[in-house]
Amino acid sequence: MLNRRPNPLSALEATAAYVAPSILAADFANLGAAVAQLEDAGADIVHVDVMDGHFVPNLSLGPAIVKALRSYSNLPFDVHLMLSQPYKYIEAFAQAGADHITVHVESEGAIACTLEQIKALGCSAGLSLRPGTPASSLRPYMQMLDLVLVMSVEPGFGGQSFMAEQVDKMREISAMIAASKRNIHLEVDGGIDASNASLVRQAGCNMLVAGSSVFNNPLGLKKAIQTLQ
Ligand code: DX5
Ligand code: ZN
Repeated sequence: MLNRRPNPLSALEATAAYVAPSILAADFANLGAAVAQLEDAGADIVHVDVMDGHFVPNLSLGPAIVKALRSYSNLPFDVHLMLSQPYKYIEAFAQAGADHITVHVESEGAIACTLEQIKALGCSAGLSLRPGTPASSLRPYMQMLDLVLVMSVEPGFGGQSFMAEQVDKMREISAMIAASKRNIHLEVDGGIDASNASLVRQAGCNMLVAGSSVFNNPLGLKKAIQTLQ
């Protein structure tokens, strides 16, 4: 069994609004420094985008990078697996220091088993949906989830435009979460910035992922994060 830190993500209140900068938009030549700055800049969580070049047409980083970054921050590592076969990599990311692991409901393998595997390793478990996947696809898993991640862009790349038509899905999932009577976080990911942060919060999202609007903001990290809180 992993000797894990108490999992800070599951300790977060579902009602507050948390900002999770995505390091996909950080300087990949200086990721340790980027991660180390986030806590002082007011971030609540570090969002780590993992891509396999198959589930999405891009490659990003693997468990070795997560392991190397672990000692640079005490913030929870919120690992978003955009992988066709995530069940093959859950243990490696948990061992590397992930606090939370989200897989896509569209991925291969028995989703319920993958979610159980994540929790058995001491991480909190989440499901993510592509923009084209209906909220109803979550129904069989609601009693297993700690988090739902709604994509407001097609997964694979940072810097895309926010898909406003996903707001209705956020409201629908927020209602499903209320009905589940579980403390499930609703996270939104893709094109989030100061212009849509309150819209997605009002739609029920309590965790906002932001890559470009944080790391590419001329105001700097701290002010960029403040505009989202
Ligand atoms: C896209 C990733 C997102 C993305 C967010 O596949 O899952 O986390 O990096 O980046 P922005 O905020 O630039 O859309
Ligand atoms: Zn992501």
